Amino acid sequence: MSTTPVSDRPVPRPGVLAIEAYVPGKAQAGGVAKVYKLSANENPLGASPRAREAFHAADALEFYPDGSSTRLREAIGAAYGLDPARLVCGTGSDELITLIAAAYAGPGDEVIYSQYGFLVYRIATLAAGATPVIAAERDLTTDVDAILAAVTAKTRIVFLANPNNPTGTYLPFDEVRRLQRGLPPQVLLVLDAAYAEYVRRNDYESGIELVATTRNVAMLRTFSKIHGLAALRVGWLYGPAEVVDAVNRIRGAFNVNAAAIAAGTAAINDTAHVEAAVAHNDRWLAWVAAELTALGLVVTPSVANFVLVHFPDADGRRAPDADAFLSARGLILRRMDAYGLPGALRLTIGTEEANRLLVAVLAEFLGKKEAGHGA
Ligand SMILES: Cc1ncc(COP(=O)(O)O)c(C=O)c1O
Repeated sequence: MSTTPVSDRPVPRPGVLAIEAYVPGKAQAGGVAKVYKLSANENPLGASPRAREAFHAADALEFYPDGSSTRLREAIGAAYGLDPARLVCGTGSDELITLIAAAYAGPGDEVIYSQYGFLVYRIATLAAGATPVIAAERDLTTDVDAILAAVTAKTRIVFLANPNNPTGTYLPFDEVRRLQRGLPPQVLLVLDAAYAEYVRRNDYESGIELVATTRNVAMLRTFSKIHGLAALRVGWLYGPAEVVDAVNRIRGAFNVNAAAIAAGTAAINDTAHVEAAVAHNDRWLAWVAAELTALGLVVTPSVANFVLVHFPDADGRRAPDADAFLSARGLILRRMDAYGLPGALRLTIGTEEANRLLVAVLAEFLGKKEAGHGA
C-alpha cells in the first residue's frame, strides 16, 4: 500500500501551489489613441531588418526545426569566440532557467537568489520542488557576502542576474569572481546576463570569462532585449560540458522553433543593429535618468535598458497614482509590487517620442515644469 495521502483528485506536488504565476508587463491601456509599452524592457528600435527577413523566409511550416539549433549555436559561437558544443539554445532564457532548476535542484535542495532578483528564479525553484533562499541586497544591489552567508550543505544553485532586473544595478567582475571563489565547487552559479550588451562599464564582464575558466558557472543570454526578438522566444546558455549535457537531456526535443533559429542567426550577425540599439540606449538612458531626477524623483542608477523610479510617499503622488496617470495617457510602465517595491515603477527606455512624452507627463503629474535638457 502506498503511504501517499488520499485525495479525491490529482494534487500537484509540493511547491507548485506556492508559485505566484509570473505576470507579464501590460500591453494595453484603455481609451487612448496610442500606446507606448515601456513595461517589458523590449527594444524600441525593434528587430534587425535582416532578422525580420529571415523570419519571413522561414515558412516551411510542415517541417520540424533542427532540434539542436545548430546554425544558431554556430553563429553565436562565431560571434563570441565560443565552442558551439558548449551552447544550448532555449525558448527564451526563461526556459533555460527552468531547465537548470529542474536538472540541478529538487526537494530538500536550496536555491539562492537575491532579494530583488528576477522573479522567474523563484518560480523555477518552486517548480523543481526546491526551497528558495533569499539573500538581502544593499542599496538595491546584490550583496555577495549575503549570498555567501546563505550557502548551506543543501545549496545547489545561485541565480544572479547581472545587471539585475528590476533594479538595473550590476556587480563588477571582481565581485562576481569573489562570489564564484566563495562557493563550494558543487554549487552551480548561473550568471543571467540578459542585459549584458547595454552595459558600458569597464569593470563589467557578462560571464564568458568565468564560464571559460571554472567548472561551476553557466551564463544565460537572450535575444529578447538587444536583438528585439522577444516574440520569438529565444535565449542561450554557455556552460561547462556537464551542464550543457544535463540541460540537453531534459529539454524539449524541438525547443527552439524554425523562425527563431533563422531570425536569431540573422540578428547575431547584424552587428550594426546591435550598435544602434546600444547607442540609442546610452543616449536616452542618461537623458531620462537626468530629467526624472530633475523632477525630484529618485532614480536607481541603471546600466541596463530600463530604470527603477521611486515615487514620493505622499497622497496623490505614489507609484500607483503615477501608474494610473501615465496609463491614461498611453504610457504603460511596470508596477513593482510583486518584487516588494510598491513605491517604485520600472520603465523601459523607449523611442525618443515615448521618452519625451514620459518626462512631460510625469512633470504634469508632479505639478512641475520640465527641466527641458536637450538629449
Ligand atoms: C534578468 C532576466 N533574465 C531572463 C529574462 C527572460 O528573458 P527571455 O525573454 O529570454 O525569456 C528576463 C526578461 O525580462 C530578465 O529580465
